[in-house]
Amino acid sequence: MLTIDLSGKKGVVLGVANHRSIAWAIAQALDEAGLQLALGYQNDRLKENLDKLAPLLKQPPLMVHCDVTEEETVRQAFKTIGDAFGTVSVLVHSLAFANKDDLSGEFLRTEWEGYRLALQVSAYSLLPIVRCAAPLMEANGGSIITMTFQASTRVFPGYNVMGTAKAALEHEMRQLAYELGPKNIRVNAISAGPLDTLAARGIHGFVDMKRVHAERAPLQRNITHREVGTTALFLASELSSGVTGEIIHVDAGYNITGL
Ligand SMILES: NC(=O)c1ccc[n+]([C@@H]2O[C@H](COP(=O)([O-])OP(=O)(O)OC[C@H]3O[C@@H](n4cnc5c(N)ncnc54)[C@H](O)[C@@H]3O)[C@@H](O)[C@H]2O)c1
Repeated sequence: MLTIDLSGKKGVVLGVANHRSIAWAIAQALDEAGLQLALGYQNDRLKENLDKLAPLLKQPPLMVHCDVTEEETVRQAFKTIGDAFGTVSVLVHSLAFANKDDLSGEFLRTEWEGYRLALQVSAYSLLPIVRCAAPLMEANGGSIITMTFQASTRVFPGYNVMGTAKAALEHEMRQLAYELGPKNIRVNAISAGPLDTLAARGIHGFVDMKRVHAERAPLQRNITHREVGTTALFLASELSSGVTGEIIHVDAGYNITGL
């Protein structure tokens, strides 16, 4: 019988802001499978949310401060994780940010500072994080998962500079899969359909986007947080040992439609 048992292994999940975060759904699925977790928080305010969520996990998580706009916190977080865990098998990068003004109106008006910030947090950040995490994976191999959206290749009004960031992120995912493959470190992305989260609420027209997804997707509904969590669990496990450099759509099939 095939089962997913990650007990004895360690993982890092970055991007839990609250109970609606996709990263939280992923953390829950990984925890259920026995993975010991480290959770990264962006700032003290969000750590308070994590303090409330942590007791819901089977194993108490290690908490680390990790703000990707301050790279020293990334290095320090992985130093703490390395000291506590020794090795890491799973890394989840579920981070994004853009200024609200850059997620509505004309993309053409995006200025450098907003563009730079969106790309730094939502795409570039994968590099310093993986730079710190990969050495912890080298002994036994590992699985790295990042979160993307179909706006990387198609136009979704309001998504604007975040579409640019997702295109960059998807490229990074493939490039890293190529570079880290010889070390048996796999790198994949999940392209999720719309889910109500803090980040999603900042996107102008999100509610309409969600409604249209449910109307037009082959499964004729929206996806659930849990469905992203269990797909991440598959990618974290040996069941996906031959999968790297891949974008798995968890979108009720929306991406195959032409209408
Ligand atoms: N919600 C959706 O509909 C949807 C669909 C597809 C992909 N995604 C992607 O999923 C990922 C998670 O987003 P979410 O929807 O769960 O929203 P969320 O707001 O719950 O998560 C975003 C996370 O990014 C973190 N973050 C922002 N700036 C940071 C910084 N400087 N340093 C460290 N962390 C920082 C926040 O603290 C938060 O935890 C994002 O990459 C998002 O683009 C979301």
